[in-house]
Amino acid sequence: MIRSVVRGVGSALPRRIMRNADFEGMVETSDAWIVQRTGITQRHIAADDETTASLGEAAARAALDAAGLTAQDIDLIVLATSTPNHTFPATSVEIQERLGMRHGFAFDLQAVCSGFVYAVTTADLYIRGGLAKRVLVIGSETFSRLLDWSDRSTCVLFGDGAGAIVLEAADGEGTLADRGILAASLRSDGTHKQKLYVDGGPSTTQTVGHLRMEGREVFKHAVGMITDVIEATFAAGGITADDLDWFVPHQANKRIIDASARKLGIPEEKVVVTVDLHGNTSAASVPLALSVAVADGRIKRGDLVLLEAMGGGFTWGAVLVRW
Ligand code: UT7
Repeated sequence: MIRSVVRGVGSALPRRIMRNADFEGMVETSDAWIVQRTGITQRHIAADDETTASLGEAAARAALDAAGLTAQDIDLIVLATSTPNHTFPATSVEIQERLGMRHGFAFDLQAVCSGFVYAVTTADLYIRGGLAKRVLVIGSETFSRLLDWSDRSTCVLFGDGAGAIVLEAADGEGTLADRGILAASLRSDGTHKQKLYVDGGPSTTQTVGHLRMEGREVFKHAVGMITDVIEATFAAGGITADDLDWFVPHQANKRIIDASARKLGIPEEKVVVTVDLHGNTSAASVPLALSVAVADGRIKRGDLVLLEAMGGGFTWGAVLVRW
């Protein structure tokens, strides 16, 4: 059977780092509160010349370099983002142009913080369906552009950045020993849409709007939803938590990551955490974390890796991949 194998991973972060102490004169908050409630110590914030397209392009180039490929080898670009450069055309098409790619096709996918997990699953189906042989899957966000900088309950939580992987069709045996995407599970439930949303949009206010979140409500649902979808993915893959080498969760809050891992019986040493350095970068958080753990030698070829995300909608999902 055809499997979608990861050939390379890359990432890009804005130049400017904003530390917790930098908020202290802006809103009523403290480094101690932010660290204790979220685990975040700093985040990167895009300058005017850094956009979802430019960060996505840089991450894509890094992933192509790691794969030993060029844009000419790619058939499809799937970009997960909720912060496109323009309402349309899709920012993925702008990245396609920036990469000098005149063939193939590109589209954006919007599932907020779950976007990368949805995009990997989508790319895997294009590959296994025979429509593409090599796919660039990118998560790129500039959430700083959606923030209400006077709202302490949200502005301290988010950051900007991008991560990307190259997926390639390869022959597999159809067993758990295969490299590539082995199982996935996706969910959404729009009855929660008011708990985490942006209060603007082209068809309603004709403005970009600002991010609004009932943090406590999101927190309340997060761990249960995350563990449910992971258990569904374990069942689909025929594995248990003991088989995992690495857990790479969405990086929204260290307390959510710790509680989910504890409930699933995944030991702390197997959990990749980058929320301390990046904050919540929405669809970029999982590929950014992957990029860090591959670069520092933790994730190696043959490892069994679980990706997970949960966010606005709500949307949530998990993907099991043998690296
Ligand atoms: O990526 C999509 C998924 N998003 C998430 O997973 C986010 C989920 N939610 C969270 O991570 C947490 O709910 C937060 C980090 C947003 C908040 O933590 P919490 O422990 O749930 O705090 P809380 O909302 O219950 O607020 C506790 C107190 C409140 O004051 P009162 O009402 O108790 O007087 C807040 O007003 O903390 C206050 N507060 C702050 N204080 C200092 C809220 N934001 C801040 C702040 N600095 N930045």
